[in-house]
Order: sequence, then structure tokens, then C-alpha cells
Amino acid sequence: MAEDITIDHTISKEEKYKQLIPLIKAVVEGERDIFANLGNTIAALKSVLGFFWIGFYIVKEDELVLGPFQGSVACTRIKKGKGVCGTCWEKGEVIIVPDVDQFPGHIACSSLSKSEIVLPVFHRGQVLMVFDIDSDVLNDFDAIDEKYLLEVVKIIEDLLEG
Ligand code: SME
Repeated sequence: MAEDITIDHTISKEEKYKQLIPLIKAVVEGERDIFANLGNTIAALKSVLGFFWIGFYIVKEDELVLGPFQGSVACTRIKKGKGVCGTCWEKGEVIIVPDVDQFPGHIACSSLSKSEIVLPVFHRGQVLMVFDIDSDVLNDFDAIDEKYLLEVVKIIEDLLEG
């Protein structure tokens, strides 16, 4: 269970991800409620990686609506094509933003957020959710984050397949 997640915090970010992925799989295995699984996935990532804000936005009609998250109070609705999350939804692509102030149209939910990574979660060929992680450190996300967070997304997509 989540309280059993103990990882040596002196190891590299890649090692942390390598240990986290099977732990996340184990935590969500056997639970069919998607919101319970999203919540525990976020908790596992936040407790080990410590990013400022981790959460999901869910596609509802023509908007993204805030779903499970950990971090400070956030914007609840984002239109398609707006901000980093709405752009991720529109393009269906991972976006890494090294400096949020340089991203045209970035939506600042908190002035503490300095860099960001967003990943689309697909279901039946369409973006169903946007996975958003913010850091209070500039340029905090790289190809290692993208690689392992895509593995997390795959776990969620497999859950959605049932
Ligand atoms: N920065 C995002 C908004 C969501 S918050 O970061 C939690 C955006 O530009 O879409």
C-alpha cells in the first residue's frame, strides 16, 4: 500500500522513477475505480518526487475540468487550445515548458510555478485527460521525466481499457 512506499531520497531522479513505476502498478492493481487510482498515483509521485503540483484535468464537453490533484488550489476549467493544458489536449502531445513565463498563453494558477510538463491520456483514440505537473524550479523537466511519466500514463490508459 501507499504507506509502504519507502525510497532512498539520495538516489537519482531516474532511479526514483524506476522504483516508483512498479510500486504504482502494485497500488492500482486490483482496484477498478479510476479516481481512487488517479489519487493514489498522484500521491505516490508527489511523496517521492516532491513536485509542487501534480494532477489531472478531465475532458468534459468543450473544457478541461480539474480532477484529482495534490498541491495548491488550481484553476478549475480550461478551454481547448488555452494554456499549456489546453494546448496539450488540442495537439495530443506531451509539452515540456522550461520557463512558464516564456509560454504564450500560459495559465498561472500559482506564481510559484516555474516549469511544467503536461501529457495527454488517451482513451479510444481521444484525449480523455491531461496529466499536469508543475515545479517551483525553472527547467525542472527533461527527457527522463517524459519517458517515465509516459509509463505512468500507459498504466492509466490500461486501467481505462478495463
Ligand atoms: N499552467 C496550466 C494551468 C494548470 S495549473 O498549472 C495547475 C496551463 O497553462 O494550462
